[in-house]
Amino acid sequence: MVPETIFVAGATGLVGKPLIHRLVDRGHHVRALVRNDSSATLMLSMGAEPVLGDLAAPGPWQDHLGDCTSVIDASQARTPGRLTARRAIRLGRQRVQFTQNLLEAIRNGHAPLGSYVWLTGLDELVPGPDRFVDETSPINVRPHGFGRIGSQIRPVLEAASHSWGLPLVALHMGLIYGSVGWFPDYLRRIERGRFAMVGDPQNWIPLVSAEDVARAIVAVVEQRPVGRRYVVVDDAPARQGEFVQFLAEQLHAPVPHRHVPLWVAGLVVGRAAAETAAANVRGRNARIKAELDVAFQFPSYRDGVPPLVTEYRSPSPTSP
Ligand SMILES: NC(=O)c1ccc[n+]([C@@H]2O[C@H](COP(=O)([O-])OP(=O)(O)OC[C@H]3O[C@@H](n4cnc5c(N)ncnc54)[C@H](OP(=O)(O)O)[C@@H]3O)[C@@H](O)[C@H]2O)c1
Repeated sequence: MVPETIFVAGATGLVGKPLIHRLVDRGHHVRALVRNDSSATLMLSMGAEPVLGDLAAPGPWQDHLGDCTSVIDASQARTPGRLTARRAIRLGRQRVQFTQNLLEAIRNGHAPLGSYVWLTGLDELVPGPDRFVDETSPINVRPHGFGRIGSQIRPVLEAASHSWGLPLVALHMGLIYGSVGWFPDYLRRIERGRFAMVGDPQNWIPLVSAEDVARAIVAVVEQRPVGRRYVVVDDAPARQGEFVQFLAEQLHAPVPHRHVPLWVAGLVVGRAAAETAAANVRGRNARIKAELDVAFQFPSYRDGVPPLVTEYRSPSPTSP
């Protein structure tokens, strides 16, 4: 394995942090884009080289992409409050701007890029009648949920790939659980007796741990399967009712049985967020395992959730 110089946008996020750990552990040189000094200090402590900058605006940070051999975009614009359909479209526009600033920096660079890793979701794919998606699933021409963001970025990246050879690899990820983001929020609401499922408890939810997403990305960077796309989910698609029951049992809390229709959830969390929660989809991960030999540390949420519940109950001093 040849050590790479890798630029990571979104280094402080749910995916970003385990990714930085794993890349550094593998001996790669990591440049981590951060927006403030405390994030820069964190990145230094994790063994990465911080680069100060904002993806929304061109600036000196772009010079740090020039000699990178891989670029990973793990950024997400912030979503204060409810994620309505209109807000999701606005976020998509912001992410397009982020993407264009990254692409401009790459085009002005001087080292040949080995891979550009784009992280998107399953909302972009149309499930079959069995609700499975895989890499052969058609792209949804009527975006819903978080797919409203990805559907705006996709054409920009595909145009760059076709017109000047951007070495694009797309990862379609399930719902990523980890120590920040929606997962601890679920735990808090279950603990307080304020949790409601969105839609039918029998709906499928496609889960994957943030640690395993990091494994998948590292495999892509090291093997450069340019032009390929991969579904990144664990081995054990879950029904939302059974998942929520497992979380409650882990917390020793009463099992929530309340479920609300999509439109009611939309009033609380916003239409786009509710659509993703109620998507009723499961994924197949056969391609990434066969082609890139990715071995999941947590093949099922039953393996991945318990350590996170322990961390939730007794956060370490460095936890967010
Ligand atoms: N979470 C999921 O379940 C899920 C599922 C499928 C796909 N994805 C995709 O995976 C990627 C990572 O998601 P995530 O959940 O890890 O995101 P996240 O936890 O919300 O982290 C977002 C990251 O983007 C950074 N960022 C935001 N605005 C920025 C800006 N203007 N300039 C520079 N950095 C900026 C944040 O930095 P600060 O710390 O400075 O705010 C943070 O590091 C996203 O593209 C998302 O669409 C996520």
